[in-house]
Amino acid sequence: MTIPIESRNHALVLQVDEVKNVSIIYFGEKLAKPDEYAGIPQSYRQANDFTEVLNAAYISSGNRNLLEPAISVMHADGNHSLDLRYVNHSSENIGADVKLYTINLKDPVYPFNVKLLYKVYMINDVFEQWSIISHEEKKDVVLQKFASANLYLKADKFWLTQYHGDWAQEMQPETSRLTHGIKTLDTKLGTRANLLQPSVFMVGLDGPPQEDEGKVLLGAMEWSGNFRIDLELDFQDNLRIIAGMNNYASAYSLKPSEAFETPKFLYILSNSGKGNASRNLHSWARNYKILDGNGERLTLLNNWEATYFDFNEEKLFKLLTDTKELGVDLFLLDDGWFANKYPRNNDRAGLGDWQVNTTKLPNGIGSLVKEAKNNDVKFGIWIEPEMVNPKSELYENHPDWVIKQPKREEHYFRNQLVLDLSNPEVQDFVFKVVDDLFTENPELAYIKWDCNAVIYNAYSAHLKNQSHLYIDYVKGLYHVLDRVRAKYPKVPMMLCSGGGGRVDYGALQYFTEFWPSDNTDPLERIYMQWEYSNFYPAISMANHVTEWGDRPLKYRVDAAMMVKMGFDIVVHELEENDLKFCQEAINSYNDVKDVIWYGDLYRLADPKEKSVASLMYVSDDKNSGVLFNYLVKDRFGDRSAKPIKLKGLDAGKTYSIKEINLYPGRNSRIDGSKTYSGEYLMKIGFNPDVSGWRTSVVCTIQGVE
Ligand code: DGJ
Repeated sequence: MTIPIESRNHALVLQVDEVKNVSIIYFGEKLAKPDEYAGIPQSYRQANDFTEVLNAAYISSGNRNLLEPAISVMHADGNHSLDLRYVNHSSENIGADVKLYTINLKDPVYPFNVKLLYKVYMINDVFEQWSIISHEEKKDVVLQKFASANLYLKADKFWLTQYHGDWAQEMQPETSRLTHGIKTLDTKLGTRANLLQPSVFMVGLDGPPQEDEGKVLLGAMEWSGNFRIDLELDFQDNLRIIAGMNNYASAYSLKPSEAFETPKFLYILSNSGKGNASRNLHSWARNYKILDGNGERLTLLNNWEATYFDFNEEKLFKLLTDTKELGVDLFLLDDGWFANKYPRNNDRAGLGDWQVNTTKLPNGIGSLVKEAKNNDVKFGIWIEPEMVNPKSELYENHPDWVIKQPKREEHYFRNQLVLDLSNPEVQDFVFKVVDDLFTENPELAYIKWDCNAVIYNAYSAHLKNQSHLYIDYVKGLYHVLDRVRAKYPKVPMMLCSGGGGRVDYGALQYFTEFWPSDNTDPLERIYMQWEYSNFYPAISMANHVTEWGDRPLKYRVDAAMMVKMGFDIVVHELEENDLKFCQEAINSYNDVKDVIWYGDLYRLADPKEKSVASLMYVSDDKNSGVLFNYLVKDRFGDRSAKPIKLKGLDAGKTYSIKEINLYPGRNSRIDGSKTYSGEYLMKIGFNPDVSGWRTSVVCTIQGVE
């Protein structure tokens, strides 16, 4: 029997044999006649699979499998063997465009069950896969590995694009050919899971991942803690991808009849490069995943780089006037507004004591919210509720709420420790931090949720079973966020982790946007946003114009405009023309933001390969677009020497192209009265005339009658 799990263009086909093994026989382009899938295995003459389970749908260990398993357990009687066989399957439509397939498996010897779940988003070709593990053994079963899913791919050769980074250096890509054996992408940091290695990746089949050509798979773990993705090229030259939570120090004791649900592994296949895959992923993310993904976003002025910890009510009142003057929607008060016994005047004290600092803000947050209202702008606030400075009342009163080894010296990351979110009391405390802010200030319009430390010395004073800590921490975090969202369903929240230390679709269900990096040097951001854009839509990525990198103001603004724009500069110190430029840019942004937020992204010229990076967004009806161009290398007078071929337009339509974001007094070198056919723009291209004198150029593309 075959079970085709089909999306609009693709099919993942499972097969059940006579002894009830379930295997993956195909993942690729969908066939018009589903009964032809069954014959696919006969067309291969690869080396003999003497294990007979190389392509298992969910590969288990302790049986005839000899390679990396997706699941590994120790039964109640101490036996390590698991063999999963087909019981039944079902499928149901759970939305106009969404179908859920369930495959039930069980061990013939032990009362041990696994449910494989496949959620297919038809139009976008997106698959989410996960598993639910349970048993009815006499005592606990220890889960030693518990992946969400495993995939099985066939191609002549495979290339992996993975990412690495650090603080302010997020999302650096590396592409390499996969050789036989296992390549593991993982993290053991507990929190800030993506700091050194994000859980997003691409696999190019038969060639490295390209923008518009070739077969490519994009994958991501929807989990905000330790993850592990094993890519194993086996002796038959096929690739298994096994993705899930990291089992590192996390053997999980599962009680009889308890269900262990793994997080979702997200993947999408494209036959026409990563551009197509990411457009589908963006549309899926906006429609189904990111909180309020098709909603509005607020432009803002943040005070982090403008003041750091050094502010008082008077200074903030001035910044509120600045917010209005600039023309953005909201003022975001960053770190430093709280704690009294150990005032938060630097990052060494006060974290955890969420009472307003009475020296800096004698009239409380309420007075700032009121003043914001007087200025006709909204007010938002920064919190980092999962963490604590040892120099704080919270730490003094609740040392048992802190993750640390009882008998070892403490080790700090940014002078702080992580609270034990596996403990329900701590969950209540964290929820209350948010809830109190909203209760006391009902007009609070935005939260920036930060997370700056990793877990060292993992130990919970609350948990009996220490190996549950990494997993129960994240479940505790999600539990708090569920409560926040139940009570405050739509308030915008930014997901921040000292930059992009925590960016994944598990967390983004609760957040409207994320902070890709503390590095706001526009040049670096162009590269980072480019890479993030493979997986995340522009509406979810925040970029604030700051002083980082000492680049021209226009270049900084143009780089921020490519995503969700904000500012973090001292507005009242701007020169007249700089202020005017920013104000006009915000007006222009308001005109084009719908295309940036909800349109289709086309990456045109890669900053890693070209001197001028270009990308564009196009509206659904292909009638309007925005084109961004940036000089990223300036040796030997580099410039846009050749026209840049646009994409995604209607070949038969006529368009005009006008430059926006011109610095006061500067004239455009682009003739906005000229018109071009879509065909011309896509086959011949358009030259935005980027050079050392015009290092960034932003244009609108408009269909004309
Ligand atoms: C790290 C964040 O990434 C910054 O934007 C800022 O909010 C600081 N934390 C505040 O401590």
